[in-house]
Amino acid sequence: MPIDSPASLRSAFAVPEDVSYFNTANLSPMLHAVQHAGEDALSRRARPWTIAEDDWFSGVERLRALVGELLGGDADGLALVPATSYGFAVAANNLRPPSGSRVLVLDGEYPSGIYTWRRLAAQRELEILTVRREPGEAWADAVLPRLDERVSVVSVPNVHWTDGSWVDLASVAERAREVGAALVIDASQSLGAVPLDVGKLRPDFVTSVGYKWQLGPFGRGYLWAAPEHRDGSPLEENWISRAESQDFARLIDYRDAYQPGARRYDQGERTMFELTPMAIAATEQLLAWGVEDIASALATVTGTIVERTRELGLHPSAPKHGPHLIGLAVPEAMRDNIVPALERARCYAALRGSVLRISPHLHVTDADVDRLVDALSRAVAG
Ligand SMILES: Cc1ncc(COP(=O)(O)O)c(C=O)c1O
Repeated sequence: MPIDSPASLRSAFAVPEDVSYFNTANLSPMLHAVQHAGEDALSRRARPWTIAEDDWFSGVERLRALVGELLGGDADGLALVPATSYGFAVAANNLRPPSGSRVLVLDGEYPSGIYTWRRLAAQRELEILTVRREPGEAWADAVLPRLDERVSVVSVPNVHWTDGSWVDLASVAERAREVGAALVIDASQSLGAVPLDVGKLRPDFVTSVGYKWQLGPFGRGYLWAAPEHRDGSPLEENWISRAESQDFARLIDYRDAYQPGARRYDQGERTMFELTPMAIAATEQLLAWGVEDIASALATVTGTIVERTRELGLHPSAPKHGPHLIGLAVPEAMRDNIVPALERARCYAALRGSVLRISPHLHVTDADVDRLVDALSRAVAG
């Protein structure tokens, strides 16, 4: 399906005509292909006698290869995890920051990472260094001066989850390498909509949900581990991540070795017969569109929204935002009412702190943007 034909893109998604959905950052709109894959998978699951031993492995390996491609990495580096927090926990479990060193995070970061680093900090006597951004300042300009030899772990996203403010990962990764700090990326709010190349950035770990910009089912997340971290300790010891688990007749010939690569970090029951086909369908579609093309199509949408809402006196909360995710600073008097006012017009966006977060995907048409701008202009007029 070509990305340059907006009408066909809308019809790829299960979003009715009268709904203008700008909340992909919360939960993705669903592709028909993903819904159908889920329905087919559920029907198949109702006939377990049709599920062969090889099916415990084949879908999962296909998904690993597809998501590996999505982030510019290898399938071997990909582990299948239930949530970002699980990926963070694997990372924290396998990094050995010296006591007294610092974990650098952004102000207002998503709690899953913060709580993980707080626990590690308590265990290993680390300091959490929270970097704040001045109004008008880019994240990298705030981060780089604080990123020195005292920092042992840098945990950052590609865009801030509250308002899409941009983090220049290339410069952060380069400085992290210079000072010898490990780099952990939470790609939950960017993977699938913003090009990410682990080959170039060389992070230690990348963790992500699968139900936002990846257009996949809730409950299937991803962790990519750099080659030097693929012989670490998993959080749990499940049977299927052990070597030769394909041989069902000999599962009680207990093995010390794991499956190769980052598979040792897979969650228990990662086969997820019902969800894996949905995640495969979603990732196949993203790769067919191409992440660069998705990013540039969404940049056009968010650019138009920024331009048109500026005329209403609403301004982006940061000097640079992701192509797919923007935040508009909302005057205090409007904060309680803005989301309900939008919903009355069947427009769906989110308030995060003082910011209206707008996160379209390729289902969004010009008519949706018109409806959003109209609803906002009525809200501004009071
Ligand atoms: C940046 C970011 N990370 C992680 C998550 C989800 O975390 P978890 O998978 O641990 O529930 C979200 C959800 O909104 C998010 O925005």
